[in-house]
Amino acid sequence: MSEIRLTVNGRAHTLDLDPTTPLLYVLSDELGLNGPKFGCGLGQCGACTAIVGGKALRSCVTPVATVNGADIMTLEGLGNVEHPHPIQQAFIDEQAAQCGFCLNGVILTAKAFLDQNPKASDAQIEQAMSSVLCRCFTHTRMFRAIKRYARLRSPQKQASSGAARRSRRGQAAKGVPA
Ligand code: FES
Repeated sequence: MSEIRLTVNGRAHTLDLDPTTPLLYVLSDELGLNGPKFGCGLGQCGACTAIVGGKALRSCVTPVATVNGADIMTLEGLGNVEHPHPIQQAFIDEQAAQCGFCLNGVILTAKAFLDQNPKASDAQIEQAMSSVLCRCFTHTRMFRAIKRYARLRSPQKQASSGAARRSRRGQAAKGVPA
């Protein structure tokens, strides 16, 4: 057993743990957090994602000793029903959830990516999200929600997409095919 120190969603914890315990089990079983989900257990689906040191990390394949001392955020640290984070609000606005099992990984992966790449193009966002799996196939709505959030974060992107929309409308009014 080893003493492990973690700061999770702003709260400091000192735990006595087998250092090989997957971070996912620590978050769910020791700290009672239900955001990170057990999907594949192999680092392949993204359901267990947490943000560690600003990066999206698959907690099912992360021994807790490797994140000793880290600052960790789970979905619970983002927002709640009364006060959703803007990315959560974007998912609500786009009705982007179906069964919801993958949403933890989708939302945290998108947030971490856009925090580090605020000017990412739509293609770069889709590439970054390509390894987070959704069995309900609601990817189209989820991309709409993520791009809505990306535009909210970046007024410049909002202006350029608005200009593109106006240009398309102008062309349509002139009978030019889109
Ligand atoms: Fe961790 Fe699938 S449960 S990546």
